[in-house]
Amino acid sequence: VQDPGAVQDLRGRRIVVTAGGTREPLDPVRFLGNRSSGKQGVALAERAKARGAEVTLIAAHLDVAAPEGVRLVEAGTTEELRTAALAAASVADVVIMAAAVADFRPAEVQHVKIKKDQVGERLTLELVANPDILVELAATTPPEVTVVGFAAETAASREELLELGRRKIGRKGCDYLVLNTVGWSEGFAQDRNTVVVLDRLGDIVGEASGSKMSVADAILDVIA
Ligand code: CTP
Ligand code: CA
Repeated sequence: VQDPGAVQDLRGRRIVVTAGGTREPLDPVRFLGNRSSGKQGVALAERAKARGAEVTLIAAHLDVAAPEGVRLVEAGTTEELRTAALAAASVADVVIMAAAVADFRPAEVQHVKIKKDQVGERLTLELVANPDILVELAATTPPEVTVVGFAAETAASREELLELGRRKIGRKGCDYLVLNTVGWSEGFAQDRNTVVVLDRLGDIVGEASGSKMSVADAILDVIA
């Protein structure tokens, strides 16, 4: 047990956490991906477990080890993550979409490596939109299931971050949206994080700054 002294306020709750970043294959050796390390999602899984929850961690290319004592499901692409998340959500009390999901994937996956001499000086890739898993979860899970989304924005100010977040939660239909700011050197792969949690109305219901573990506890406090 990671933290035997932890308050057991999530005892018996079934919590699904997606973490990491999905990758979309382009050919057998290349993919389109993003810079998510999975650290915040893994911290959520670890703290939820320590607080008594039964945790399913749906992991997309984590840079860090998964915590012990959670059910681990590996998902590489967005479609794999979607299938795993919908299945796990059907028997969950809470679903937390911390994963960074690729918005687009190559329209065609080449089954032979793309060769420079067949392309020339410019290569145009056609991409198609991926399904929005969070929207689908929010629309299909029963109302008693708590659905939590994340949004990492390149906002220049707190006001802009809140404005982007309020617009996003309206579009997504989830119960809570965890907002943070990202940039070239901010957010990704760091051990610390700063977040604001919005409810459906766009009201601030939580705020935290510190280690990704302490931020995970603050997010779980809102959910609990
Ligand atoms: N998400 C998802 N499926 C997608 C894209 C995003 O489930 N195809 C989820 C993410 O896991 C996150 C939330 O939606 O919890 C917000 O992701 P974000 O990328 O911020 O939102 P988008 O709607 O993709 O908007 P944009 O990237 O244009 O800001
Ligand atoms: Ca996106």
